Amino acid sequence: MKNFVSVTDVNDIDGLVRKALAYKADPFKDKQLGVNKRVGCLFLNPSMRTRLSTQVAAQQLGMETIIFNVGSEGWALEFEEEAIMSGSSVEHVKDAAPVMGKYFDILAIRTFPSLKNREDDYSELYIKQFIKYAGIPVVSLESATLHPLQSLTDILTINESLGSLDGGRKKPKIVLTWAPHVKPLPQCVANSFSQWVNAWGKADFVITHPEDYELSEKFTKGATIMLDQDEALKGADFVYVKNWSTYEDYGKIYCNDPEWMMTNEKLQLTNNAKVMHCLPVRRNVELSDEVLDGPSSLVTQEAANRVWAAQAVLSEILKPTL
Ligand code: CP
Repeated sequence: MKNFVSVTDVNDIDGLVRKALAYKADPFKDKQLGVNKRVGCLFLNPSMRTRLSTQVAAQQLGMETIIFNVGSEGWALEFEEEAIMSGSSVEHVKDAAPVMGKYFDILAIRTFPSLKNREDDYSELYIKQFIKYAGIPVVSLESATLHPLQSLTDILTINESLGSLDGGRKKPKIVLTWAPHVKPLPQCVANSFSQWVNAWGKADFVITHPEDYELSEKFTKGATIMLDQDEALKGADFVYVKNWSTYEDYGKIYCNDPEWMMTNEKLQLTNNAKVMHCLPVRRNVELSDEVLDGPSSLVTQEAANRVWAAQAVLSEILKPTL
């Protein structure tokens, strides 16, 4: 694996999941793999789980991590080619990324979308410019449109919950449901989850949301889209709850109907479904306390699994450099 920014960088999803689960069973089994190697983790935006789990994962492989909150502590970066830098940006990524490429063996980056201009956000300029100019492998810690480490974790958690990778059981029904929120959020987690579940191909996949919240078909193609949440939830084995803002009329909140919040009453419609959310979560807006604190919730297990997903990805990148 050269870079990890999308499911398209992965040849074998099940193999990567097995690798992550092997690390969960024996966290230090490859503790020599990353000795004398360094991962630089650049944050243009805040993070708790991604930052800490990546650090723990790297350390368990013997790697050193350096965290740089470039968004709040570094020089303001310019990403546009041929920019006339007479504004607020101080340094071009063309100059900064090659320097980072000399300091580190792997560069891991978190950026968010602006939610102002869809074309710009969906071009993934920031992460692409780092790939172009750093000269070392790049790992996405969440980009403008995708969150692949989260999605790998989610597939891992579903597998874990199913008890085996396939085992000959019927396909689980996975429902991704939109939920209300207080502010417009990126589509990254929903896009990425859709992309990974579709690529994994071992589930009946349904996406439900109010009218106007259609995601890009680039990621959802293959899923059944339903506007009736109750209908969609019927017989679900897994319910993935997430808010996202509008894609077509980009970055807006249209409907914010509190009826879309996931509650125990709604879970009655499912096949005793397990409930997932990437966190952080707005309690009693996206999901009720009773769901989050109840036996159906996988959210803590899911967040804990971030370590194993990150460790599997870092080790895949490190291996060829040995
Ligand atoms: N799920 C997730 O990416 O969490 P953080 O934003 O805290 O990293």
